Amino acid sequence: MSRELKNGIFFVGALDRERTLFDGLIPLPDGTSYNSYLVRGSEKIALVDTVEPDKTAVLLGNLEELGVDKIDYVISHHAEQDHSGAIPEILARYPQAQVVTNPKCQKLLMSLLEIDEDRIVTVADGDTLSLGDKTFRFFYTPWVHWPETMCSYLEEDKIAFTCDFFGSHLAGDTLFVSNEQQVQNDAKRYFAQIMMPFRMQIRKNLEKIKALEIDLIAPSHGPVYDKPQMIIDAYSDWVSDTVKNQVVVPYVSMHGSTQKLVDYFSQALAQRSVAVQAFNLVEADIGELAIALVDAATVVIGSPTVLTGPHPAAAQAAFLINLLRPKTKFLSIICSYGWAGKTVEQLKEMTARLQVEFLEPVLVLGRPKRQDLQALDRLADAIVQKHQNIGII
Ligand code: FEO
Repeated sequence: MSRELKNGIFFVGALDRERTLFDGLIPLPDGTSYNSYLVRGSEKIALVDTVEPDKTAVLLGNLEELGVDKIDYVISHHAEQDHSGAIPEILARYPQAQVVTNPKCQKLLMSLLEIDEDRIVTVADGDTLSLGDKTFRFFYTPWVHWPETMCSYLEEDKIAFTCDFFGSHLAGDTLFVSNEQQVQNDAKRYFAQIMMPFRMQIRKNLEKIKALEIDLIAPSHGPVYDKPQMIIDAYSDWVSDTVKNQVVVPYVSMHGSTQKLVDYFSQALAQRSVAVQAFNLVEADIGELAIALVDAATVVIGSPTVLTGPHPAAAQAAFLINLLRPKTKFLSIICSYGWAGKTVEQLKEMTARLQVEFLEPVLVLGRPKRQDLQALDRLADAIVQKHQNIGII
């Protein structure tokens, strides 16, 4: 079903409530949407992005419902298939349509979707495209989250079309944001899993958005922001260097020793007024872990020793944290072992890309004993001291 944002500008995308996983990685507790927008100018008609290929029929149905018999331009902000996947079908249905994108995205579209070069026109950063009484201005926003990503600004209507930037994985009932807290959480999940590694580049791109006078932000996932300041403020916080007085503890336990250590350590932190979020990796939602990493000053990985190294679940978490590169400042490890092993060394190696100070780990032979619990108290004290030093306590 199409829905009108403003005069002559329609949502024509698709909701996907059944999808539970994105990129084979991100759990989607609230589903997602693939937002495509139709913009009718006095002289030309543009389609802004498309949908995931398996939702092409929904997009075509929405265009039919609106009586669209001509499309002049298909604006492609980003080549990933959840937004570009229906372009070949659109080009087949609307033979006069041209894809409008930037040169990097052009190459990707030709490679990923085999779109003919002669169907694509490229725009440079700052270029405009007139539909008659409506004008798009394009601005490049590289690494949100691919190198070719760009946004556009519809000048007369003050709408920023931002594709993944500000997107939320939410298949909601309303066109505009109706539950700010839910949208912000779903947007943070998306930011954490694909954009957090590019925090510094996104910070620059955010300045480009802030320079615009915006009535609506229309992303390509989730509802449209009719009060855009909310998501701009949230992003400003996420991409800043500011961390919070929080410790994230991803852990796994085999015979209960690591569980005992994590329980004691969590209590020790709470007693010292440090917020702690522990994630049992056997059952944790990886998206929730990623969200927690956006703000946390400290990460402490808990793992038993399997054969000679970390438990595979802890290794996977370390790999993911290293990949996501959160702004975390301090890292430590709590490890139990039966006879020997290199769990600490290997987890340290796996998190080598993080710009963190490594705090004294706690290694425990067998069941945790009194001196082990005292070592956890010392680690909790060290974390308090570090958090005080950077002014977050
Ligand atoms: Fe929503 Fe990068 O695709």
